Amino acid sequence: MPLPTVNPTSTKAWKALQDHYDAIKDHHLRDLFKADPNRAADFSLSWKDFYVDVSKNRITPETRKLLLELAEEVKLKEAIAAQFSGMEINATEQRAVLHTALRDFSNMKPEVAQALQKMKQFSEGVISGRVKGYTGKSIQTIVNIGIGGSDLGPQMVCEALSHYKNHLGYYFVSNVDGDHVAEVLKKVDPETTVFIIVSKSFTTQETLRNAQTIRNWFLRHVPEEAVAKHFVAVSTNLDAVASFGIHPENVFPMWDWVGGRFSLWSTVGLSICCVIGYDHFEALLKGAHDTDRHFSETPFSENIPVALGLISVWYNNFFQCETEAVIPYCESLSKLTNYLQQAVMESNGKGVGRNGKPITYQTGNIVWGATGTNAQHAFFQLLHQGTKLIPTEFICFAESLNGLQDHQNMLLANCLAQTEALAEGNADASNPFKNFTGNRPSTTLLIQKLTPKSLGALLALYEHKLFVQGVIWNIFSYDQWGVQLGKVVAETTLAAIENHDASLLKHPSTKAIFKNISE
Ligand code: F6P
Repeated sequence: MPLPTVNPTSTKAWKALQDHYDAIKDHHLRDLFKADPNRAADFSLSWKDFYVDVSKNRITPETRKLLLELAEEVKLKEAIAAQFSGMEINATEQRAVLHTALRDFSNMKPEVAQALQKMKQFSEGVISGRVKGYTGKSIQTIVNIGIGGSDLGPQMVCEALSHYKNHLGYYFVSNVDGDHVAEVLKKVDPETTVFIIVSKSFTTQETLRNAQTIRNWFLRHVPEEAVAKHFVAVSTNLDAVASFGIHPENVFPMWDWVGGRFSLWSTVGLSICCVIGYDHFEALLKGAHDTDRHFSETPFSENIPVALGLISVWYNNFFQCETEAVIPYCESLSKLTNYLQQAVMESNGKGVGRNGKPITYQTGNIVWGATGTNAQHAFFQLLHQGTKLIPTEFICFAESLNGLQDHQNMLLANCLAQTEALAEGNADASNPFKNFTGNRPSTTLLIQKLTPKSLGALLALYEHKLFVQGVIWNIFSYDQWGVQLGKVVAETTLAAIENHDASLLKHPSTKAIFKNISE
């Protein structure tokens, strides 16, 4: 077994953490700061453009020590080495997990380097106008057709780096909702649009339906031979791509050692290359590689993804927190939580241990959030005065991209103020409704500036954080069997709906709903 298998609850550290939790669970952050004037410095990590403040968490030096011991006991170091070495740590699918190899320019697999060159050439051709559509007009718009990892990562990055974008317009079509497809098609011109079909498996129902519908629409406007100039595909399934009618030169290869939700660094990032240009895409990869090195080479006590992962386990398994919020103070990161939801919850939403047996402790925390300051005017009430304890990660940038310093000052002030108010509270005995208990934990990630490089580094921090958690929970983070059953049931349900045949349905509730659809 390439990954060590240790039940975390059987470790010495886990038991010690349980006792430690009982001892400190009521300690207030206010008192922890009063007792230790060096707490802010002591519980912060500086690395490149990142300053990570974990001091507003309900932890003490003893918590840190025990969590680090837990990491040792579950053999996190060995697990990291196994992942980076290319062992088949995705054991239930017999696959290596090497998205990190996509961004290691010093040691790049030839097929990856070749694919990058192809992405560079294609995107530069489209951006410069050298690549023409069927009628000789230059390309103005790209449409990415894909779902899950073939949509969320590229879409989030295009949005996050909109400051760096060029003149090309872009759309993402993921949902099989025909109304959305139709609305997008109203806005694009078949003569000046390139459609990028992205599907690692090229069997995903939604993507294939959307691609077929768009192809049919396209052929109503232009002749068949135009398809070669307007449709490209990204996939591992080259036969299926060929049967769909994509010209072999328009195929960008992908590899089974890249998981869908970790694939934005691969050819799946083709739309990113088109929207922000290849050089920025390369900077994104290099930023992620910096994090890979930090994660694999830095002692755990100074290691940011390790710290974030351990703190998350502390709340999930000892405070029994069900969820954690991520609040970027940056509108460009408005799709970050959608992206993280797939990354984190598809990876760690598992109830079976690496030994194949059901596990008896909590895994896979629920990730949610929205941008600050918007979120302050929406759900922060619950964070401040609700009955649930929700550890929150605040992300902010020291510099803005467009000046407007008065806005930037307000944005930062709000971010910092919220973390302080959550931690300190404001004892107001005279009015219980205006009382803030405080002691609500948060971590602040202060990053110098939103650049392709810093975004790459940030995303890789989250990838490694979730791996740290998965190793501790003794689960396989890199498979996703939990998405299969619904897909299978949908096949019969679709047949019932298409054929108006209720007899294909088994479940009484589904049958009753079906009756109401067809009547
Ligand atoms: O259904 C889940 C999933 O398999 C994700 O893991 C994946 O990112 C998504 O579907 C899309 O898969 P594909 O790229 O093969 O179309």
